[in-house]
Amino acid sequence: MPEALNPWSSAQAIDTRRLFDDFGIEPIDPLLDLLPEVPAFMRRGIIIGQREYRPIALAIREQRPFHVLTGFMPSGHPHLGHLLVMREVVWHVSQGGHGMITIADREAHAVRGLSWEDCDRYGREYLTALFALGYRGEAYFQSKNQALKDLAFEAATKVNFSELQAIYGFEPETTLAHAMSVITQVADILFPQVASGPAPTIVPVGLDQDPHIRLTRDVASGLRFFLVEDRGDHVSVRAKNAPEGGIRAVARALSGSRAYGGHVDVRGMTYEAVSDIVREVERDLGGFGFYAPSATYHTFMPGLLGGKMSSSVPDSSFGFSEAPETVRKKILRAVTGGRPTLEEQQRLGGEPDRCTIYELNRFHMCDDDAELAEIRRRCLNGEITCGACKKETVNRVFAFLADFRERMDEVEHLAAEV
Ligand code: TRP
Ligand code: SF4
Repeated sequence: MPEALNPWSSAQAIDTRRLFDDFGIEPIDPLLDLLPEVPAFMRRGIIIGQREYRPIALAIREQRPFHVLTGFMPSGHPHLGHLLVMREVVWHVSQGGHGMITIADREAHAVRGLSWEDCDRYGREYLTALFALGYRGEAYFQSKNQALKDLAFEAATKVNFSELQAIYGFEPETTLAHAMSVITQVADILFPQVASGPAPTIVPVGLDQDPHIRLTRDVASGLRFFLVEDRGDHVSVRAKNAPEGGIRAVARALSGSRAYGGHVDVRGMTYEAVSDIVREVERDLGGFGFYAPSATYHTFMPGLLGGKMSSSVPDSSFGFSEAPETVRKKILRAVTGGRPTLEEQQRLGGEPDRCTIYELNRFHMCDDDAELAEIRRRCLNGEITCGACKKETVNRVFAFLADFRERMDEVEHLAAEV
């Protein structure tokens, strides 16, 4: 059976339906009502899926603690394709999340062969962009975080080679460093809960990263001492990898519970209340008490040339520090949903849903829904030519970049300190 996703492949069509049907990713729309404020990227179907986002939405709503973590592989300059995840993190921090960013230099070195110097240089560019977008929170480089590497080793006790083969299609030729970069990412995702205490953790990623999320959820559960289960009329706690006396400690902490050999039954308490107490007991006994991480999955903005957006195709996107003239040229050359002749454009209208310029506006350059609707309307009615539409988009991009660059200059020192 071929694996559903390979996070390191550069050319692949993601089978979204299969991810939903076979791997249990769920739509995000039904949860949006829980949020006090719904950002454009959630309103517009850019984020299409989630795993266990409900606890995050509730934490936002009820102002309870949660972590937000994501990572960037520093294999080149940050560009348009990275902007969405950056904005997702910034938004979750603005909603009360405790932020953590990992620069995946181990992955860039192991999988892409980048030198440590390049990883450092590019990594700081990502951090500068994040801080300029308003990110306030913690950040680290994988290779420089000893506690992370210790956690990766602990996580590695729960993963074997046949799992890596099944999940990622690893082969006998796959280097050990590649496998180590995978387990480092697992540790990244759990790290906020080790550094700052257990709490629900949201990991905003692209759909291609789902294998890492699934593996991490398995590891998080594998490292738990206890399993708490809702049995309808009671809640049951079982010892999994608990040390001697673990289940007795749980029974003592849950007043009114009944202990049987390897498990404890509690009546009259909610699943959540029992889970919280069990988590504390686990921490007292030296365990992690992890919550399984949650994730949101976004779709990918197409490259300006129509195909996949990629650092290896320079004209498919633009970097945040590229010269305005270069950026203008790239936008003017972009593939649109326009018709071959002016007459047809006026008669039939353009096709915004097949247009990279429209996508650029929908993703990033036009957060105002009314304004986006107006772009769409004029396009569909044939009221505007693609040339004019592109010029308007260039103006929006220039305004965005001018402001962004000014902010990047202001926060460069923050990135240098990480
Ligand atoms: N593998 C991710 C990428 O290729 C980078 C990454 C490393 C990451 N650690 C992470 C993403 C933790 C999310 C969470 O971009
Ligand atoms: Fe795209 Fe604008 Fe042309 Fe419509 S008018 S196809 S949105 S460039």
